Amino acid sequence: MSAYETIHVEQRERVTLITLDRPKALNALNAQVLAELLDALAAFDADEGQGCAVITGSEKAFAAGADIKEMSAMGFAEMYGSNHFSGWEQFARTRKPVIAAVAGYALGGGCELAMMCDFILAADTAQFGQPEIKLAVSPGMGGSQRLAHAVGKAKAMEMVLTGRMMGAEEAERAGLVSRIVPAADLVEEAVKTAATIAGMAPLAVLANKEMVNAAFEMPLAQGVQFERRLFNGLFGSDDQTEGMAAFVEKRPGQWKGK
Ligand code: HXC
Repeated sequence: MSAYETIHVEQRERVTLITLDRPKALNALNAQVLAELLDALAAFDADEGQGCAVITGSEKAFAAGADIKEMSAMGFAEMYGSNHFSGWEQFARTRKPVIAAVAGYALGGGCELAMMCDFILAADTAQFGQPEIKLAVSPGMGGSQRLAHAVGKAKAMEMVLTGRMMGAEEAERAGLVSRIVPAADLVEEAVKTAATIAGMAPLAVLANKEMVNAAFEMPLAQGVQFERRLFNGLFGSDDQTEGMAAFVEKRPGQWKGK
């Protein structure tokens, strides 16, 4: 797929910037958005020239949720039988880092999409919420789980049971976002952060991402073992030799990705 209709993809040196672009529906996530996003991310993950991706939306909305109009006519058999939203699990399996740059509404599936990314940079205008209960449903792309991991039981429970939104400052205090930046600077700051990551040794980037994610899947002792194995493995890379030599010689490292 080359010409997308619901997203824009732009490469800025080693950073892939993906912008959701369905303004009439506040970037609601329909099947076409999912297909296009998965295609763009697979291309990003496979491209040795690319090191980190940023996903953003518009000033008004990162994404206002799964597309309610697309879902409204679906029944249980269709939803369950086709495992309708399971494609999003593929999104979360992207190996290289993906940063969410969120301005405006990140609601329902939009909040879940942001949380599937490796971290969230928020504009001061960002609003996060899981309002599905108001539609008599629930989060379905991992929101109840990832939100509880990110902000703890009390806030996650209040948010999913009442549907209330959380502003950027509360989200930062609660640990949902890594940083708040002025809305006008959001995309540039996210791309700059992504460029920093994309400038690191590629195998170390994959390993560091993988080990932090392991903290959410494994008991502590097993996670520490997992970290140690990856750490030891990095000592088999040319880039480790180069990285440490470059430090001693007071020069930047030149990475081979090997
Ligand atoms: C489809 C949507 C939409 C959505 C907004 N729109 N959100 N269409 N799906 N999730 C459309 C509106 O219908 C409207 O289209 C246009 O976008 C502008 O929206 P308005 O409501 O007019 O804008 P505003 O008054 O500024 O209100 C913004 C808003 C509101 C607060 C974000 O749009 C809203 O509450 N949206 C729904 C949020 C939500 O419930 N999200 C969770 C969805 S369920 P028209 O054609 O009328 O101009 C979900 C399930 C996840 O995400 C689990 C999946 C497995």
